[in-house]
Amino acid sequence: MSSETGQSTSRKIANVMQETRVFPPSQEFTTQAVIASESQYQHLYKSAKSDRDGFWSDLAKSELHWFKPFESVFNREGHVVSWFGGGQTNLAYNCLDRHIENGLGERTAIIWEGEPGEQRRLTYAELHREVCKFANGLKSLGVRTGDVVSIYMPMTPELAIAMLACVRIGAIHSVIFAGFSAEAIADRNNDARAKIQLTSDGLWRRGKNLPLKATVDEALKKSPTVEHCVVLRRVGNEVPMQAGRDVWWHDLVEQASADCPATPLDSEATSFILYTSGSTGKPKGIRHTTAGYNLWVKQTFAWVFDYKPDDLFWCTADCGWITGHSYIVYGPLSNAATVLMYEGAPNFPAEDRFWDIIERHRVTILYTAPTAIRAFIKWGDHHVEKHDLSSLRLLGTVGEGINPEAWMWYHRKIGGERCPIVDTWWQTETGGIMMSPLPGITPTKPGSCTRPLPGIVPLIVDEELHAVDVDQGGMLCIAEPWPGMLRGIWGDDERFVEQYWTKVPGNYLTGDNARQDADGYYWIMGRIDDVINVSGHRLSTIEIESALVSHPSVAEAAAVGRPDDLKGQAISVFVTVKSADPPTELKDELKAHVRKEIGALAVPDDIRFTNALPKTRSGKIMRRLLRDIAAGKEEIAQDTSTLEDYSILAKLRGDEE
Ligand code: PRX
Repeated sequence: MSSETGQSTSRKIANVMQETRVFPPSQEFTTQAVIASESQYQHLYKSAKSDRDGFWSDLAKSELHWFKPFESVFNREGHVVSWFGGGQTNLAYNCLDRHIENGLGERTAIIWEGEPGEQRRLTYAELHREVCKFANGLKSLGVRTGDVVSIYMPMTPELAIAMLACVRIGAIHSVIFAGFSAEAIADRNNDARAKIQLTSDGLWRRGKNLPLKATVDEALKKSPTVEHCVVLRRVGNEVPMQAGRDVWWHDLVEQASADCPATPLDSEATSFILYTSGSTGKPKGIRHTTAGYNLWVKQTFAWVFDYKPDDLFWCTADCGWITGHSYIVYGPLSNAATVLMYEGAPNFPAEDRFWDIIERHRVTILYTAPTAIRAFIKWGDHHVEKHDLSSLRLLGTVGEGINPEAWMWYHRKIGGERCPIVDTWWQTETGGIMMSPLPGITPTKPGSCTRPLPGIVPLIVDEELHAVDVDQGGMLCIAEPWPGMLRGIWGDDERFVEQYWTKVPGNYLTGDNARQDADGYYWIMGRIDDVINVSGHRLSTIEIESALVSHPSVAEAAAVGRPDDLKGQAISVFVTVKSADPPTELKDELKAHVRKEIGALAVPDDIRFTNALPKTRSGKIMRRLLRDIAAGKEEIAQDTSTLEDYSILAKLRGDEE
């Protein structure tokens, strides 16, 4: 068996993956499952397809609180869609107040563990109180419905509290992963026109504390729209506070009242924007709504994670990514679930931290990323074997395809061969999970995200827009609208239409290649566009290239992904410099430059200097050739007929780092 190539190299995409193992769920799991029979799935799937509006209308009525009932279910005018038009609801209300009204105020909402080892437990009633107080604090700083709040914080309960406080009053949050640089924060703040910045004095990472406030201070010099900065005390660092602008979190909430009724918000009100990489240099602010997003994450959480009230659900993502938004905060809390939230690194103080956490807290459902699983494999089984993982009953993965051998390890070593694995395929844009096994019924195949959830109608087409045959790769589209779909790119309608709705008219273009096998199972084959998936996070090649070119010594740069055992893809860059003889220190300087411009996650793994880049006659850099070179392929099995200067290839191959 060979692993999939993940790359579109010709019009028809070759499928080289042959995986024949099938793992049905145990009878024991099936008997207790939320979706417990194939006929139940078929019924749901068919109802959602044949009567879309009726299906979603019933669920919206039963699953969400409505301050004002909706008048229509789905409307589309051009590219503007709306779900549950005329209705008013509130995400924070559905995550908190509703459960308290149902007598669940004393249920634990969040169990938090800090990297140094502290623990906190918040019931739904306590979380509600904290959210109300912070929401009032935001109001006292002048935050109003529709204002954008930029959040750059560690994984503490206050991060979730901040998100919920924003949506409670109709403020729009833009969470920026706390590994991004000052430049990246400023770019996002300016694009979003953020009014308030939230941060902390620092964050714990592998025993060190990182100075978040210092990064934010840099960013705020270039973020003219930001009026105030709220600082959470987390690590105890001394930080300068700018009079009139900066305020401590604890001072803000000390005086604030715990009475803050949720604002009734239109179904289509923007709940948050979240920046993700696209195929141009500028990150795009993906815009999600209130009612449709809420319903989608609530329902997908219930279906896919088979949640029961005595479960303890742990999603190891960071709230800076969509996975944290949808499956740490909004999906689980809408379902009155108990979530575990962990602040720090998986290898601190030792490589068994995750297994230690699972054993001590008796975690029942673990949702993590293939990149983490590959690291665990590398660190060695003895870290796992020291711990009792018998509390686990279900495992999940997200962020990238999982290679079948890593899947088998997860199944055997972590799942003890008894836990179903849900390989969930989705995107920042889709809001929630789109394709995944249903753990009680779907026989799994290692490496496949199996089948679509009810309401999701995938379509795979070739370049001529014809539906492809079984086992043929092509562009993955979604043919029907679903409630959690993105509604736009913040401030850039044109790009929204062009990126997602133009190439395959009438269908949502995912940007992924996929194939469907003879059993109807879907296999994701990687990205179509120039996006690299590093450790489960999307980085656009052009963003990295633009950062490189902004260095005074660089004339031109091309960034490509190459296979990497640990990260999935590593970043290889090819750089032409202005001087004839680049000094060797320039490589380190360029790495530092990218770290400053974008953040550590975008730092190239290897840099090659070259006199020229291979280009087509129309001047486009031939990244697919560079991909092969970066991957160390001897033979270039690619069409080079449009290559302008073939000799460049030979030179590039000889110029190893
Ligand atoms: O290429 C797919 C890959 O990650 C992309 C979405 O990245 P992002 O918006 O950052 O969201 C990640 C978390 C949802 C997809 O276009 N991807 C995500 N999950 C899978 C996957 N590829 C294969 N299998 C998956 N389960």
